[in-house]
Amino acid sequence: MPSISAVIASVAWQAGMIKITGLTRKFNGFTAVDNLNLEIPPGAMYGFLGPNGAGKTTTLRMLMGLLQPTAGSVEIDGLTVAADPVAVRARVGYLPDEIFLYDYLTGYQFLEFVADIHKLPESAREPRIKELLDVFGLADAAGDYTANYSYGMKKKIALAGIVIHSPSLLILDEPFNGLDPQSTRDFRTLLERMVKAGTTVIFSSHVLEVVEKLVTHVGIICHGKMQMSDTIGNVVARHGSLEKAFFSLTEAAGA
Ligand SMILES: Nc1ncnc2c1ncn2[C@@H]1O[C@H](COP(=O)(O)OP(=O)(O)O)[C@@H](O)[C@H]1O
Ligand SMILES: [Mg+2]
Repeated sequence: MPSISAVIASVAWQAGMIKITGLTRKFNGFTAVDNLNLEIPPGAMYGFLGPNGAGKTTTLRMLMGLLQPTAGSVEIDGLTVAADPVAVRARVGYLPDEIFLYDYLTGYQFLEFVADIHKLPESAREPRIKELLDVFGLADAAGDYTANYSYGMKKKIALAGIVIHSPSLLILDEPFNGLDPQSTRDFRTLLERMVKAGTTVIFSSHVLEVVEKLVTHVGIICHGKMQMSDTIGNVVARHGSLEKAFFSLTEAAGA
């Protein structure tokens, strides 16, 4: 049960909202994420960009409560991640940068396992799993052990697993890495459909072409500091293109 104060606070919040305040993470004196402040509105498709080592993965792990901030806080739908990690995780689908699967489960069994974790009602399981296997083009491989899947297939079954409970927020770390063009297109279509249905998405990426076509909002982080966060329309109007914005802001930051 959420606390009374969380219930009261949640009145002003809408599903899928993220509020990041003063978020900082140090590793032995090295500041990987430096005083990040950010609000992501519900229904946004937020592209979180930055060069390697900029602090994207560290930030996304803190959003999920997998890594404790050195300072600052994250609220999701009005729930403080540090105080209510279980309630937060029920609303969120998280794709880590290194996906983890059980080699000795078939694709179908993996999705059943995830459906169990999220306590999907019995009657909803089979149709939902079949729908997702279809969406990700994995129906024919559903009976194979995931150990024998290609990298792209592993990524797709992991993605199917994180959307199985229809989360209001998706946090995706480099979701397009290693996907072939078809899977990229299919996954983009799925994300667009979910966003239309009210899901909020934040994803990290360095594939600028995919990002520019897909996002409503974009943020650029470099050396742990947010260089800019705005709507994609404003960024393109100001810089000409996302690519130009990316290079001018990251070079100015000394990347
Ligand atoms: N557990 C850790 N211990 C020490 N340094 C870390 C750790 N995790 C990340 N870092 C450092 O923090 C910085 C940001 O890393 P990361 O968030 O993975 O960047 P990105 O995902 O943008 O490539 C890097 O310099 C990285 O080496
Ligand atoms: Mg990363």
